Amino acid sequence: MKRIKIAEILRTEPVQTRVQVKGWVKAFRNNQFIALNDGSCAANLQIVVDFENTDPALLDRIKFGAAIGASGQLIESQGKGQRVELKAEEVVVYGDCNPEQYPLQPKRHSLEYLREHAHLRFRTNTFAAVFRVRHALAFAIHQFFNDRGFCYLHTPVITASDAEGAGEMFRVTTLPLERVPRTETGEIDFSLDFFERPTNLTVSGQLEAELAALALGEVYTFGPTFRAENSNTTRHLAEFWMIEPEVAFADLTDNMDLAEAMLRYVAAYALEHCTDDLKILEDRLIEEEKSKPQDQRSGLTLTEKLRFVVDNRFERLTYTEAIDILKNSNPNKKGKFQYPIEGWGADLQSEHERYLVEKHFKKPVILTNYPAAIKAFYMRLDEPRDGVPGPTVSAMDILFPGIGEIVGGSQREERLEVLRQKMRDMHIPEDELSWYLDTRRFGSCPHAGFGLGFERLVQFVTGMGNIRDVIAFPRYPGSAEF
Ligand code: 4AD
Ligand code: MG
Repeated sequence: MKRIKIAEILRTEPVQTRVQVKGWVKAFRNNQFIALNDGSCAANLQIVVDFENTDPALLDRIKFGAAIGASGQLIESQGKGQRVELKAEEVVVYGDCNPEQYPLQPKRHSLEYLREHAHLRFRTNTFAAVFRVRHALAFAIHQFFNDRGFCYLHTPVITASDAEGAGEMFRVTTLPLERVPRTETGEIDFSLDFFERPTNLTVSGQLEAELAALALGEVYTFGPTFRAENSNTTRHLAEFWMIEPEVAFADLTDNMDLAEAMLRYVAAYALEHCTDDLKILEDRLIEEEKSKPQDQRSGLTLTEKLRFVVDNRFERLTYTEAIDILKNSNPNKKGKFQYPIEGWGADLQSEHERYLVEKHFKKPVILTNYPAAIKAFYMRLDEPRDGVPGPTVSAMDILFPGIGEIVGGSQREERLEVLRQKMRDMHIPEDELSWYLDTRRFGSCPHAGFGLGFERLVQFVTGMGNIRDVIAFPRYPGSAEF
């Protein structure tokens, strides 16, 4: 008999047919009713065991967490809570699960406890839901770009360049650490290293994506990126996945329109395709919020938050306008900000971003035209504007409630001489990026792109508060288990 997944059974409800199912025991009541989950969906299938005619030794092995198979007839359920159930004719145990030793119990565990048992947490309803939603979001992103004619580009993981110029890179080397070869002048001799030069894990695929966009027109990357920043927060990982579209002949407005359309599309996709999993996550969040003080509760349920993103235009304003709002805000006047806003030019901290999004506008916000000095070298220099104290670039950051920055992007500096000047100002060695500058030497054109932090998106859609709970095996300072 062919095995059928529970998701398919519940979708088609083929009563009176004989089927076989395989999965893990979620509960076993009265020696008779097994709740079986096979990971294909949030729902369990009820299996009714004829306990009077079943070997007691076998019944005794049907424990929470055990892997079993069952075959028999699908019938309409007499009980409450399900439409169909399986009348078992045969039950086999593939893998026993000793409740005395199993780290999971049929009760609610804390997220901290489950993080320490990340190898088993897929088996909880919450994490199974998170990872099914994560999958759906990845799929939706590919669908969004594919439908619009973008070409999926795989950029290198190992690279010699620091795309962000921030120096937060993991070195890749095969040089022996115990006796590092030195040149006559005492520097590390990278000519003896694997690639015969210093290399690192990529912080972003953007620069390579730009090269492709200036021929293929519209490309996107979706791959792992690495940052050796020592940030122990609920929003930072040392290894995270990033989506980076890059579009030729696009300006900042086109870039904002694309990012907004993408975020709206994936939120709508999750609402349509992940109903059961979102229900589990929404209920979890409601429980979690009950333990928070009133002023820290979000006020909206998870699905209401997603619907809000689908239905509302994001607020667009310049950095300069945002600074005015922040300077005159109550928390700033009352000294409530840890980093008071004194004037134009300051980098925004997450407390400022959250104020704008959660208190002032109460919706997603796109901030544009940041001071050139606080943004990466490749961003396009703006024309000077009245009332703006210093040079700005055509940057955009999208800020989400509860998340802060979810997208960062810009129109790129396509003018060779302006770009070279910026690189000199920011001490970015030109010879290392001569290939990048070639795009500006030959057939350069206006173009723009952005990076979406995939885990921050998964956080937003699942309502999980800690980024370490939306990636299977999180990497952060001091931790690279599994
Ligand atoms: O703002 P970032 O650093 O921008 C870039 O890397 C550009 N090259 C993107 C582009 O224009 N193609 O990072 C982009 C996004 C952030 O908005 C954030 O969502 C996410 O990546 N991100 C992180 N997510 C998790 N952990 C970290 N340490 C992250 N750093 C950035
Ligand atoms: Mg950024």
